Amino acid sequence: MNLIFLGPPGAGKGTHAQRLMNELGIPQISTGDMLRQAMKAETPLGLSAKKFIEAGELVPDEVVIGIVEERLKADDCKNGYILDGFPRTVAQAEALSKFAHIDVALNLSLADDVIIQRLSGRRVCLKCGGTYHISTLNGREDCANCGEKLVQRKDDSPETIQNRLSVYAAQTAPLIEYYQQKGLLHTVECDASASVEVNYQKVRKALGIE
Ligand code: AP5
Repeated sequence: MNLIFLGPPGAGKGTHAQRLMNELGIPQISTGDMLRQAMKAETPLGLSAKKFIEAGELVPDEVVIGIVEERLKADDCKNGYILDGFPRTVAQAEALSKFAHIDVALNLSLADDVIIQRLSGRRVCLKCGGTYHISTLNGREDCANCGEKLVQRKDDSPETIQNRLSVYAAQTAPLIEYYQQKGLLHTVECDASASVEVNYQKVRKALGIE
């Protein structure tokens, strides 16, 4: 199954994509994680992406399209993949349609006030991509998966979160209509008061996983 995870920042794309990756044995391909790893390694890609990411703006289309096209050629994508955070513009979606076949675009929806609360309490592992919330860490500061010290993303500051929400509304939300017209869209209304597990079961149901 070739999947796209759509949805505003903080809706839970990364959280649910990781669970699905473990359950289905197909890779989670997060353009955000790939760009952050490049920033950490200070590669030319990372250095050029840094100013966009830290301001909550999108990295130019031609940069991310090239990264994803290359990544999808890898052997581990042969049985399917989960695109997390790509495409993010109609131009990216058009480019993707030329080098990939997509089965489902899963749209995770969540109210803005919950998004702000979630993102401001998020802690991430820059080594393995693990994602946590301070409300469930019980003071723990390292990644339960690989032991790396958890950090707060620079773009999870309140002002940058607001800008990311505006960028999402202007540039990414049109993809909901785009995939609806193609008959590929499934929407999961995430319940803000429910646990990750409860919302994950909604994701599974929307994908027809028994
Ligand atoms: P990216 O890393 O993709 O960020 P994003 O889309 O803004 O999404 P997030 O990672 O912030 O949120 P998420 O939906 O994955 O939520 P999560 O699961 O972490 O992109 C970052 C930047 O990179 C972009 O701004 C852009 O600059 C650039 N970029 C990336 N892709 C690009 C592209 N294609 N084109 C151009 N630029 C691109 O969950 C959030 C929090 O909520 C976590 O703490 C989690 O533990 C918690 N949580 C989740 N579910 C629940 C629940 N049910 N109950 C309680 N807490 C929960």
